[in-house]
Amino acid sequence: MRLKHFLILIGAILIIFSCAKEKKNQEKEPLMMREASELAIMMEQMYAFNDSVKRQILRGEEISKLPFELQEMHTLEMTDRFSRDDNFNKFSVVFEKYQKQLYTTTSDSLRTVYNNVIQTCIACHQTSCTGPIPRIKKLLID
Ligand code: HEC
Repeated sequence: MRLKHFLILIGAILIIFSCAKEKKNQEKEPLMMREASELAIMMEQMYAFNDSVKRQILRGEEISKLPFELQEMHTLEMTDRFSRDDNFNKFSVVFEKYQKQLYTTTSDSLRTVYNNVIQTCIACHQTSCTGPIPRIKKLLID
């Protein structure tokens, strides 16, 4: 039991630090109030949206429209330590493809397409921002 708690604690620390935003000290704001980049804000929207899509699929409901512009992945300002390298560009194209496919696929393959969306989130994150991966994995449909 103690070991389990220890591992949870280490996990939580890794999540906080591995994708934490770095801020140079040009602004005198308290450490806890670091600003999220535009891309990070979009990512949080992508998370919330896909979480609701998961529930819609499980209930057999119609999927809501995308609340964000997929193209903006390529232009929004991002935290300094990340960059639009080859991996980012490659995975964002795949991601875009699957996210759009949710609206064109048959209901039989909806779960597969949805899980492909989430696997693409994870794949891109493995090349850059590993912190949120355990959280993203919760979006998968078993
Ligand atoms: C093409 C690569 C890529 C894809 C695809 C991608 N992400 Fe991200 N994600 C990033 C990068 C890079 C960051 C760091 C952004 C920053 O801090 O500017 C990030 C940050 C995040 C964050 C942390 C935001 C914060 O508050 O700091 C979450 C959560 C997240 N992504 C979830 C997701 C989810 C859910 C998906 C799929 C629906 C997804 N991501 C798809 C690259 C990607």
